[in-house]
This record gives sequence, C-alpha cells and structure tokens, in this order.
Amino acid sequence: MSGRVAGKVALVTGGAKGLGEADARALAAEGARVVLTDVDEAGGQAVADDIGAVFKQQDVTDEARWQAIIGEIRSDFGALHVLVNNAGIVLPGSIESQTYAQYRAQLAVSADGTFLGSKHAIPLMAESGGGSIINMASVVSKLAYSGVISYAAAKGAIEGMSRSIAAHCLESGYRIRCNSIHPGIIDTPMVQNFGASGDEAGMDGPQPPEGPAPAEGGVLGIPQNIADLVVFLASDESAFITAQEFVIDGGMSMLPAPLTHRLQ
Ligand SMILES: NC(=O)c1ccc[n+]([C@@H]2O[C@H](COP(=O)([O-])OP(=O)(O)OC[C@H]3O[C@@H](n4cnc5c(N)ncnc54)[C@H](O)[C@@H]3O)[C@@H](O)[C@H]2O)c1
Repeated sequence: MSGRVAGKVALVTGGAKGLGEADARALAAEGARVVLTDVDEAGGQAVADDIGAVFKQQDVTDEARWQAIIGEIRSDFGALHVLVNNAGIVLPGSIESQTYAQYRAQLAVSADGTFLGSKHAIPLMAESGGGSIINMASVVSKLAYSGVISYAAAKGAIEGMSRSIAAHCLESGYRIRCNSIHPGIIDTPMVQNFGASGDEAGMDGPQPPEGPAPAEGGVLGIPQNIADLVVFLASDESAFITAQEFVIDGGMSMLPAPLTHRLQ
C-alpha cells in the first residue's frame, strides 16, 4: 500500500535518528510532505535530503522556536495535519540518585516539548481541517523501573497530557485526534548508548551513574515497528481513534519473557 497519508503535511521532532527518523521516512514513503526537526543539524539535514523532506533545526524546549517553525509551515505549506512529538532524551537515575537539575532537564525535553509542540500546532491544524497529534510516551510510564525516575515522570505527563489534548480538541470542535504511543525497548541510538543523551539536554558536570538499561532481558523491537503505528495514527485509517494509549512492546509488559522472545 502507498499514499496512505498523501496530501498531508507532517511535522516530526527528533527526526535525525532513531524512531523519529523511521517515522519521517515512513510518512514520506506514504506520501506526506514531511518537515523534520532536531537539535542535530547535520543528522537531520542528511535524513531530510534523503527522503525529500524539509529540515529545520529546533530545540523542542524553546517556545519561540516552536512559534517560528509553525509560522514557517503556515507560510510554506499552508497547512499542518500531523504532529509527531517524538524528540526525547533519557537521563537515568533513581529518586535518590537523580539531581533536581537532571529531573528538570528530562521534563523540559520530554514533557515541556510535547506541551509546547501541541499548544502551538493546534491552531494551524484546526485551520487545516484537523489532523492527528501523536505523542511518544513509553511503556516505562506503565511499569516500575527504579532507575529512570524523571523519564517515568515525563512519560506519565505525556500520557495524561495526550488525553487532555484529545478532549480539548473535541470540545473545541476541532477534528484533531491525539493519542500516545508507548514503545517497549526499540533498537535505536538511545538504547544503544543508554544514558548518554545528557549532552542533548545541555547538562554540565557528571552524569548519573549508569544503571542497567530497561532493555536488559527484554524483547528488542525495531524502529519500523513504531513507524508502522505512526503511519496508521497519522492516516485517516484511524479516523475514529483518539485519547488512546498504544503499548507496542512485543508483549513485554504483559507476557512472561520466554513468550515475548518468540516474536522477533
Ligand atoms: N528507543 C526506545 O526503546 C524507546 C522506548 C520508549 C520510548 N521512546 C521514546 O521515543 C522517542 C525517540 O527515541 P529514540 O530511541 O529514537 O531516541 P534517540 O536518542 O535515538 O533519538 C532522539 C532524537 O531526538 C533528538 N533530540 C534530543 N533532544 C532534543 C531536543 N531538545 N530538541 C529536539 N530534538 C532533540 C536527538 O538529537 C535525536 O535525534 C523518545 O521520546 C523516547 O523517549 C524510545
């Protein structure tokens, strides 16, 4: 099948690598006009060039930059139908080892970034006749991992925020759906270099001690697993789906490990 999101304009944050790159590639392959953003200018531009997308440098914690990017999409494309709030970092640490500065840095990228993106995209999406906001949460907000306290808090915030956004859009008469995706452990640079993304949060000084990655012992998915769901949620195939949470983890959160290992 192709052209499942033909005619739609899609904005993907954190599109330079990992899940955001896979989402951007899949949306472009299915006919969307894609704008991808990232703090990583070289990586983001390379992906955009490869798929015929537009790259814009962006730190999702910067509200003025969000306003500027939405304004540019309005003038260059005249519409926005899909927002994938994907950009993220993970700063490991427990309630005792994590510093307040680390906690705030994690919340800034993951929770504030999702808030700001949704807030500033909604008016243009409403003007465009509606669309789909897809927020990248995590299965971590559903489970009990000691070593990722602020990541769990941020992903829980995204989960609740997504339902509130969905309700607001319906109450406002906008045809904008909003859902959250809760991936399990997916093979991306974030997982490969677990705990190394403090640089992207502008963190100074020593990083938290590296705890065991939540991936240990779990099933490992591939970015395309998530991109397939993103395309579905971006497309009109999911027109009646909003305010929902999609756990996509190979069954990791539900099944005994020996069974989940059989999926891939
Ligand atoms: N990989 C997994 O197993 C997994 C599981 C659950 C949830 N997630 C979530 O999926 C999303 C993508 O994760 P990933 O595994 O692809 O990570 P990744 O580290 O491989 O890629 C994240 C991208 O976000 C960008 N980024 C970081 N901070 C940014 C900022 N402030 N502004 C703009 N861009 C920024 C990075 O430069 C990078 O290109 C994240 O929200 C993550 O929390 C990932």
